[in-house]
Amino acid sequence: MADQFDLTIIGSGPGGYVCAIRAAQLGMKVAVVEKWATLGGTCLNIGCIPSKALLHASELFEEAGHGFKALGIDIPAPQLNLKQMLTHKSETVASNVGGVDYLFKKNKITVFRGIGSIPAAGKVLVTPQSGAQTEIATKNIVIATGSVSANLPGIEIDEKQVVTSTGALNLEKVPNKLVVIGAGVIGLELGSVWMRLGAQVTVVEYLDRILPGMDSEVARQFQRMLQKQGMEFKLSSKVAGIEKQDDGSLKVKVEAAKGGEAEELGADVALVAIGRKPHTEGLGLDIAGVALDERGRVRVDGHYKSSVDGIYAIGDVIAGPMLAHKAEDEGIAVAEILAGQAGHVNYAAIPAVVYTNPEVASVGKTEDELKADGVDYKIGKFPFTANGRAKAMLATQGFVKILADVETDRVLGAHIVGKNAGEMIHELVTLMEFSGASEDLARTTHAHPTLSEAIREAALSLGDGAIHI
Ligand code: FAD
Ligand code: NAI
Repeated sequence: MADQFDLTIIGSGPGGYVCAIRAAQLGMKVAVVEKWATLGGTCLNIGCIPSKALLHASELFEEAGHGFKALGIDIPAPQLNLKQMLTHKSETVASNVGGVDYLFKKNKITVFRGIGSIPAAGKVLVTPQSGAQTEIATKNIVIATGSVSANLPGIEIDEKQVVTSTGALNLEKVPNKLVVIGAGVIGLELGSVWMRLGAQVTVVEYLDRILPGMDSEVARQFQRMLQKQGMEFKLSSKVAGIEKQDDGSLKVKVEAAKGGEAEELGADVALVAIGRKPHTEGLGLDIAGVALDERGRVRVDGHYKSSVDGIYAIGDVIAGPMLAHKAEDEGIAVAEILAGQAGHVNYAAIPAVVYTNPEVASVGKTEDELKADGVDYKIGKFPFTANGRAKAMLATQGFVKILADVETDRVLGAHIVGKNAGEMIHELVTLMEFSGASEDLARTTHAHPTLSEAIREAALSLGDGAIHI
């Protein structure tokens, strides 16, 4: 039997590791159980971090090949060194997961390696790959076991040719033809990576639009931008099967979403990116009596407590957007709650970013949601074509769209398509945290010349008018 802990967290992703650090800072004795060899979970090992390393490198490759000439930089066509690009990705991951090791040591957090399960409240059993099991005695438990890729029935993932995001972050060569199943965030980000490196990319999407959940006007315009870059879309379509051919290539059978005759697409690689599902396997939640919801997520109350006292859950394994920063903030909130403080997450102001080029960033309500809710709203918009800095950067694609309440002027949602949208969205997130109005933004001086001036102009257009259009 190991020592008695105040808190034991199962899973060291952004939810688990951030919760552990905050709990230790608040004076708790903390243990973390992780079954992988490295800390950091999906996000640091096979998600956010490696995908952003490849998105950055492939964007520069594309720019060096096609964007430099107009800026007066004549260079020979860039040569791809994929091995080095993948090394850059792996080194980025190593540096980030090493950072979590350092933070755990600094905060005196004990790590147990192995699969964690919960025989009962107050106990966590750790089963390592080899050797004896350890039982941890603990006052509280936080389940932070994250999510795993969903798959289609009848399709076998080998992570070489038929891949999830994990395999798509590690392809040994650029496929000639890549079929992406699912026009969500993973499909569009990783589809962009391989398209920039030379693949012909076709995205098959079940719905009649891309990026479900995002503002539909934004999604429509963004789809056009991706099409201009060469990405092809088959919307309202589904994949009925994938067959391996004698020559080693794949035949992907695609049919209309409502059924009908199948069309066959040739491919070297198929990426299945149809969503992720909560990961509760191996935890023994049925034995502990922890209730799940209809989608297999751990059911929690407003304080992240499960159906069993002393057992909590956060991150991808509970309801809400599957985003690293949402998991992190829930980690902080639950640590604060356990320390007797008023931990809280404002779900109305969680930003979401698609790290393509241009980027898509959003916070709060979409226009579609406001319409459905019968809210009386007004729209302020400003295109980057009218922004001086964007012109200088040859980055005039996209626009800012701000949605505000007609009566109170309070900002209800904001959506940006454009270069660096993912960095720019935060002034709107902060504004919404303070329940700000569009006039607050319109009266705030923005440095010139910056892309952020487009945000102020969109806010000005909700009052007496934008200046530069
Ligand atoms: P996870 O990060 O999934 O961590 C769960 C951990 O629990 C894992 O380490 C796992 O090994 C461990 N575990 C599971 N079961 C057990 C057990 N029984 N015992 C011991 N350990 C266990 N989100 C963003 O916000 N921005 C992005 O740019 C972004 N990019 C992404 C790109 C890709 C390709 C993918 C797949 C996801 C991306 N996400 C992104 C989503 C993000 O990774 C998740 O929302 C986030 O990792 C969820 O954090 P979590 O702590 O809930 O779980
Ligand atoms: P997603 O939910 O974003 O998109 C899945 C897409 O697949 C949807 O458009 C859906 O309609 C479609 N689909 C479902 N079944 C299908 C079928 N049978 N045939 C064709 N299309 C089908 O899921 P995705 O892209 O897999 O990402 C998983 C999670 O990871 C997301 O929730 C996202 O939040 C997170 N993530 C976040 C990133 C970011 O913040 N930048 C980057 C990557 C992932």
